[in-house]
Amino acid sequence: MNKSDPIYVTQPYLPPLEDFLPYLEKIWSNKILTNGGPFHQQLEEALCKYLGVNHIALFTNGTIALVTALQSLRITGEVITTPYSFVATSHSLLWNGIKPVFVDVDPNTLNLDPARIEAAITPHTTAIMPVHCYGHPCDIEAIQKIADNYNLRVIYDAAHAFGVQDHGGSILRHGDLSVLSFHATKVFNTFEGGAIVCPDAKTKTRIDQLKNFGHVGEVTVVAPGINGKMSEINAAFGLLQLEHIDKALARRKEIDATYRERLAGVKGIHCLADAGEKLANYSYFPVLVQPDYPISRDDLYHTLKENGIHPRRYFYPLISDFPMYRGLPSADPANLPVASAAAQKILCLPIYPALETEQIDRITQLIAAQSM
Ligand SMILES: Cc1ncc(COP(=O)(O)O)c(C=O)c1O
Repeated sequence: MNKSDPIYVTQPYLPPLEDFLPYLEKIWSNKILTNGGPFHQQLEEALCKYLGVNHIALFTNGTIALVTALQSLRITGEVITTPYSFVATSHSLLWNGIKPVFVDVDPNTLNLDPARIEAAITPHTTAIMPVHCYGHPCDIEAIQKIADNYNLRVIYDAAHAFGVQDHGGSILRHGDLSVLSFHATKVFNTFEGGAIVCPDAKTKTRIDQLKNFGHVGEVTVVAPGINGKMSEINAAFGLLQLEHIDKALARRKEIDATYRERLAGVKGIHCLADAGEKLANYSYFPVLVQPDYPISRDDLYHTLKENGIHPRRYFYPLISDFPMYRGLPSADPANLPVASAAAQKILCLPIYPALETEQIDRITQLIAAQSM
């Protein structure tokens, strides 16, 4: 590491290259590259065990997994969701011809605010798609209560929530389905990848059919499925990553604690608290740049960039501000005051296992220096 090396918001965790070679040799010898091969099956089993869930269907990425999750439950009409997320959340609705209905977020967690959901329900509402933003659990009980009262499905976008647990176990067990992303930027990555966590074997069978063109056997197609399968090379890499994940999460926890300690006295910088999870994954380090910080969020963002530090404004702009959404009545900023304010203040600071304490010092000293 050089003192002047750029520091990006994240850096993928990569195990030693030589440890991956035996996996490649196996693929080269058995010549099975995809279509639910041995590594695919092994990774599904290993992830069920590691995460403590019953069924997992692996996917080529999280977005196709979201699109397929909606298909698998035959969701139509309107779906209530959050504007404070990555665009893939609501794009998955548009790809299914579903109308997103944006509801504001809770000011503490920046997750969908259950107190505002009921007012957005119409006779066309069929489901709720909340996001465990930054890996902090949504108010699962309150959301489920509303879903039960109105007979709605709940599909969690759990792209950020790998390994997160509440007091009863994995947060991925909640709702009808949970969708993970294993993109390069995520705490657990398979280069590209994703998964649907589902509660029963019957649902998994339907999802497995949908991700394989709707094929059931050689000559029968039962649904207009898609090609969403994870390849053997990605699955093999996932198996290797899993050996390192606990170490990677432990280092993230230390980095989170160091940031909190270094930033505790900096006026106007508010570190987002957890949401009461029993086990967090420290996938992001979001801070809110408050009005009493001497410079604006964007000025801080540019100052850091000029100094080789590259934070990201996740999530700015809000999804509801993009052209394909902003005409929706629910996209009106007046309907989304909390999310709109957060989008103006948010800055996600670099966090990844290889981030060194001296680099955290460089980042936090620069942030502190603006307020002196
Ligand atoms: C909240 C959220 N949902 C969905 C996705 C899409 O996942 P993928 O990139 O694996 O398609 C991402 C990240 O990329 C995300 O952050």
